[in-house]
Amino acid sequence: MTTVTIERVSRSFGSVHAVREVSLEIRDGEFFTLLGPSGCGKTTLLRMIAGFCELDAGSISFGARRIDTLPPHRRNTGMVFQNYAIFPNLTVGGNVAYGLHARKVPAARIAERVATALKLVHLDGYDARWPHQLSGGQLQRVAIARSLVIEPEVLLLDEPLSNLDAQLRVEMRGEIRQLQQSLGITAIYVTHDQEEALAISDRIAVMRAGTLEQVDKPDAIYRDSTTPFVAEFLGVTNLLSGTITRREGAHAVIKAGATEFHVEGTVTGLGEAVAFCLRPEALRVIAPGDAIPDGWASLEVLISRVEFLGALTRVETQLADGTMLRVALLDQPLETLSVGHALTLAYDPRRVTGFKAA
Ligand SMILES: Nc1ncnc2c1ncn2[C@@H]1O[C@H](COP(=O)(O)OP(=O)(O)OP(=O)(O)O)[C@@H](O)[C@H]1O
Ligand SMILES: [Mg+2]
Repeated sequence: MTTVTIERVSRSFGSVHAVREVSLEIRDGEFFTLLGPSGCGKTTLLRMIAGFCELDAGSISFGARRIDTLPPHRRNTGMVFQNYAIFPNLTVGGNVAYGLHARKVPAARIAERVATALKLVHLDGYDARWPHQLSGGQLQRVAIARSLVIEPEVLLLDEPLSNLDAQLRVEMRGEIRQLQQSLGITAIYVTHDQEEALAISDRIAVMRAGTLEQVDKPDAIYRDSTTPFVAEFLGVTNLLSGTITRREGAHAVIKAGATEFHVEGTVTGLGEAVAFCLRPEALRVIAPGDAIPDGWASLEVLISRVEFLGALTRVETQLADGTMLRVALLDQPLETLSVGHALTLAYDPRRVTGFKAA
C-alpha cells in the first residue's frame, strides 16, 4: 500500500518561495497530476518526493514510513525526466539495467528483469540497440522501462512527453496510463498541458505560485473550478463579473453590464459583486422559432468572429454592452453564422459557476 502524504512542505531558493506549505494526500494506486504554469513549483515538489531537493519544512511519507529524511536511493521511487536522461554510452539494456547494478541485484536476475521491463514498454528485443538508433518515443519508453525495472513504490514523471510531437504525445500518454493501471502503481505526473492532465489523471492538483489552488477529479476541476485562475488555466472560458440583483425560483440573477445571467444554487447575497464563469461549449444556438429548453436561460448576441476548426467552430459574440462572449459549437452549419448577424443563445444555469469574492 503506497499512499503519499505530503504535510506542510515548503522550499525556497533565495527569495523565491518555490513551494509553500503544500499538504496533499495521494492515494494508493492513484494517477495524480500536478498541473500549473511554468515556475509554479511542480518540478520542485516532485524532486522533493524523489529526494533530489531538500525540504525547508514539512514532511513526506509513503504509507506510515517517513521518507523525506532518506537518501534518494532508499525511497523506492522511479523517476522519468523531461529530457529522458538516457546514457548515450550504454545500450538500451545497459540503460535499463543501470538501477539494478546500483542496487547490487545478482547478475542472473538482472537480465530477466530488464527483459520484463522492456516488454512492458513494447521494446522486447531492443536490449542491444544504442540510444542514437532510437526515435524520441522509443527513447521515452526506455526511460520509463528504466524507472519501472527497480519495481518502485511510486512512479514520478516530470513532463515526460514534452519532447515529442503532438500525435506521439497523445499515443504515449495513453500508454503511460495503461501501464500505470496494469501495474496498479501510485504515479505522480507533472505537466503544464491541461488536456493531458484531464485525459490521464484520477485527480489533479492545480498549482499556482508554489501553492495548491484546487485538488479534485478532472471533471470537477473543469466544470466546478473554484477560482477564476483554475477556470482560465483549464481551457477557454468566459469569465464575467456582475452583481446579484434578485432570485427567480431556484436561480439567482446576476446583472453583468447590460445582461442578466441566471445561476443555479451556488450564489447567495443580494447586492453582492460576484465573478462567474460560463464555458463556451455550455452555450447552444437556438434557431428562430425553436423553444428554449425547460429551465434554461437565454441571451441575445451579435456574431463578431467565426473560426471553423473542423469538429468544432469557435464563435466570438458580443452582448448588448459590447462584452465578448465565446461560444463553441459542434456541427453547426456555417451558413447560420455570419458576422454581424444576431443569435439567440441558451444555457443551463447549472453550468454557470460562481466564485467567492477574492
Ligand atoms: N535550483 C534552483 N535555484 C534557484 N531557483 C530555483 C531552483 N529550482 C527552481 N527554482 C525556482 O523555483 C520556482 C519553481 O520552479 P520549478 O522548476 O519547480 O517550476 P515548474 O512548475 O516545474 O516550472 P516549469 O513548468 O517551467 O518546469 C521558479 O521560480 C524557479 O525559478
Ligand atoms: Mg518543471
